[in-house]
Amino acid sequence: MAKNVQGRRDFIGMALGGFTALGGIGALYAMKRSWDPLPSVKAAGFTTVDLSGAQENVLNVEKWRGKPIFVLKKSKDMKADPRDVVVGSDRFHVSIGLCTHLGCIPAYLADEHKFKCACHGGEFDVSGHQIFGPPPSPLEIPPFKIDGTKLVLGEEGPEYKKMLDAGLTV
Ligand code: FES
Repeated sequence: MAKNVQGRRDFIGMALGGFTALGGIGALYAMKRSWDPLPSVKAAGFTTVDLSGAQENVLNVEKWRGKPIFVLKKSKDMKADPRDVVVGSDRFHVSIGLCTHLGCIPAYLADEHKFKCACHGGEFDVSGHQIFGPPPSPLEIPPFKIDGTKLVLGEEGPEYKKMLDAGLTV
């Protein structure tokens, strides 16, 4: 009898372990899908990202000077914001992907249109404004320049300078 109970426990443990592993793989796959970078070129402190292939509501994570950079093409139903990077008729959210509380990398929840930081539960909206939890300020906007449909990270273009002067980059 006792052996049977133990056997059932082992089975349940294995089954739960299997589900957990599958869930983990699913989460990793979703993360990989939503974290695919756009075509980009890196040179001497600059990263040039081609935005022409960006899809709405899909987060792309680029790398600039060792930091993750969030590039999110906003969908039409997302509210316009003075922090948006405008390229033609498209609006993008571009920010350094480090939580302004203690520096964890927030995940993007596409269904909920928000970033969530797993470390202490901080949340940011699709314009990078902090909307919940301990983050004291919005996600920071890195220096950028727009060159046609390309985003040059690391260069201060007029669009960035305007945001900087208005105090919108932090
Ligand atoms: S580091 Fe993100 S909420 Fe604390």
